[in-house]
Amino acid sequence: MSEKDILILAIESSCDETAASVVKNGRTILSNVISSQIELHKLYGGVVPEIASRKHIEKINQVIEEALEQAEVTLDDLDAIGVTYGPGLVGALLVGVAEAKAISYAKNLPLVGVHHIEGHVSANYIEHPDLEPPFMCLIVSGGHTHLVIVKDYGEFEILGRTRDDAAGEAFDKVARAIGLGYPGGPKIDKLSKEGNPDAIVFPKAKLENGPYDFSFSGVKSAVLNYINKCKMQGEEFDRADLAASFQKAVVDTLVEKAVKAAKEYHMDKLAIAGGVASNNTLRSAMEKACEREGIRFYHPSPVFCTDNAAMIGVAAYYEYKKGTRHGLDLNAVPNLRLGER
Ligand code: KG4
Ligand code: ZN
Repeated sequence: MSEKDILILAIESSCDETAASVVKNGRTILSNVISSQIELHKLYGGVVPEIASRKHIEKINQVIEEALEQAEVTLDDLDAIGVTYGPGLVGALLVGVAEAKAISYAKNLPLVGVHHIEGHVSANYIEHPDLEPPFMCLIVSGGHTHLVIVKDYGEFEILGRTRDDAAGEAFDKVARAIGLGYPGGPKIDKLSKEGNPDAIVFPKAKLENGPYDFSFSGVKSAVLNYINKCKMQGEEFDRADLAASFQKAVVDTLVEKAVKAAKEYHMDKLAIAGGVASNNTLRSAMEKACEREGIRFYHPSPVFCTDNAAMIGVAAYYEYKKGTRHGLDLNAVPNLRLGER
C-alpha cells in the first residue's frame, strides 16, 4: 500500500443489518461484512426496534473484527472511522455510534458521521469508477423515497420525496397482505415474474403540487381494497398477477419521474440507490427509458443496494476529504435530514 492510501473503517447499524467495511481511497472495498437480522424479524412480520438494538450490540464487535481480518488490516492502519448517525432507529443507530466513538477515542482517529441516504447514493461509486457528480439520483428504500440532484460529493438538491409511504414500505405492506412475509420487496420481485403486469390496473397518484413528489399509499390501499373485494365476493385472485400489476404501477411512476427530472435538469446521468434499486423490473425499465433518452444509467449490485457499510465508507471518505469531522459528542439523530451536518 502506498503512503497516500486512505483507509476507513465504516460501521452501519441504522436498521436490521449490523455491518462493517474497510474502504481504501473511497472506491475500493477491502471487506464488506453484513450480519442480517432478517430471519429474526421475519417472525414478527417487520423490524422490531428493541430486538434490532439488542442484536446489534451482540454482533457488532464480531462484525468489525471480521471486516478488519478480511481486509488484512488492523485498527493501527486506519485513517478514520465512518459511522451512520441517522436517519434510522435510534436504539439501533446508538450501537454503531457508540462503537465508532470508542474506537475513535482509543486509537485517536478522526470520526466522520455519515447520513444513511448519502451512503446509499455513494454505493453507486463502488462499481462505476467513471461516475462523478453531478447526476440525478433516485433513492428508494424501506424508509425513504427521494429524487435528488447530486451536485457534488455530499451536496444534494432535493427535487421530491414521498408524502406518505416509502416505495419499499409499499412493497412490504402489499407482500404482507398476500401472505408473502417479510421483507416483501424481493418476494414480490420474484413472484411477479410469473404474473401478468397488465392484469389489474392500479391507480398512479397524481399530485397537484410538487411534480417530483411521490405517494404510494393510494396504490397500496387500492391493492388492499382489491383483495377485500375478491374475498367478499368469494372470488380467488391470482397472487402473481396482483404482485406484477402492483409492481408495474410503482415502477412506472418511479421511472417516469426520474427520467422526466433528468431531462428537465439536463442531467445525462441517472443513478438509483436503496433496497428497492435491486428490483429487477425497476432496473430493466430504467435501463430502457434511459437508453431511449440518451441518459447513462447507473445502479449498484444488489449487495450494495440494501443496507451495508461499504457505502458508508465511500461516503465517509468524501466527507473526510472535505474536512468533515465529528466530536466525541456525536449523537444518533433518528430523523436526520439530507444535507444536514
Ligand atoms: O435500503 P434498505 O436495505 O433499508 C432502508 O434503508 O430502508 O431497503 C430495504 C427495503 C425493504 O422495504 C425491501 O422490501 C426493499 O428494500 N427491497 C426490494 C427488493 N429488495 C429489497 N424491493 C423491491 N424489489 C426488491 N428486489
Ligand atoms: Zn438503507
